[in-house]
Amino acid sequence: MDRIFSGVQPSGNLHLGNYLGAIRNFVRLQEQYECIYCVVDMHAITVWQDPKELRHNIRELTAAFIAAGLDPTKNVIMNQSQNSHHAELAWIFNCVARLGWLNRMTQFKEKAGKNRENASVGLYAYPNLMAADILAYKATHVPVGEDQKQHLELCRDIAQKFNNDFGVDLFPIVEPLILGPATRVMSLRDGSSKMSKSDPSDNSRINLTDDADAIAQKLRRARTDPEPLPSEPDGLDGRPEAANLVGIFAALADSSVEEVLREHGGSLFSDFKNALTEIAVAKLGPIGAEMQRLVADPAYIDGVLADGAVRARALSEPVMAEVFETVGFVRT
Ligand code: TYM
Repeated sequence: MDRIFSGVQPSGNLHLGNYLGAIRNFVRLQEQYECIYCVVDMHAITVWQDPKELRHNIRELTAAFIAAGLDPTKNVIMNQSQNSHHAELAWIFNCVARLGWLNRMTQFKEKAGKNRENASVGLYAYPNLMAADILAYKATHVPVGEDQKQHLELCRDIAQKFNNDFGVDLFPIVEPLILGPATRVMSLRDGSSKMSKSDPSDNSRINLTDDADAIAQKLRRARTDPEPLPSEPDGLDGRPEAANLVGIFAALADSSVEEVLREHGGSLFSDFKNALTEIAVAKLGPIGAEMQRLVADPAYIDGVLADGAVRARALSEPVMAEVFETVGFVRT
């Protein structure tokens, strides 16, 4: 049976890339699949998190899931640390994955930067935990943005090696779902780097909590080039900032790059940015407002996470029993 799992880190600054690349697709998929959506707090602490802020960010991300349209009765909405099976399976995967595989992970290299010796062991082993998140539920499909593709390939390698080593057909080989016209939203300040929670410039991203004025200001200041918009997609070649804004527009408008260019080809960026601001405010404004309303009711949010944890454990319990039996652990 098909089952969806995906996760988002509660590391603050939830942005348009997270929404268009991931969360918006989660909402669509809830109609077709059994879905587990996870606030991955254990992943977040692979880099330093202030405990008070972490607690807030876990609740805020849960609120964002619901505000964006995820139904907590239909889906399992949970935070990772409340189901210890993730950590238990991650340990087993630490013993399956090879150092050489992890050494190839570009995200580790980016995040660890020059001071690799000082990165946490958790940051290095992060992709093994990610594989455990997914495979503890035998999930088959994983909606993510483009940047997670390599981690999902590793998840497939881990599943395959586990199955081969033990001569079983226990874990599925997961399929990434990288959907829509904005699978890699770029920084508003630099079309060659990804929109990211950790960019020191808040002007590089639109946060889901930004109000209409902030959205308008950031888009007005977004970097562009002096040419008007082209009428065909190949006119965006070599124009990363223009391609980014058109992709964002297409995703927000539920349209395609072709269609947006058919309508706005020949426009000056000043006009296009006004149209983009209008649609961004119309789509994101209600989500931000609902997030604020929900965050003001932590008892409700905690109730959703408590219910999610119980339902998640019930789903991973039989998988873990099978895993422990396969590995040869004695369970008394
Ligand atoms: P995270 O928290 O960095 O991002 C959450 C989701 O948002 C997508 N995303 C983007 N999409 C388009 N453009 C961008 N600029 C952009 N930035 C982020 C990410 O691809 C992701 O889908 N390792 C994961 C979290 C995770 C996970 C999992 C995901 C942990 N376990 C299991 C899937 C399945 C991460 O750090 O995402």
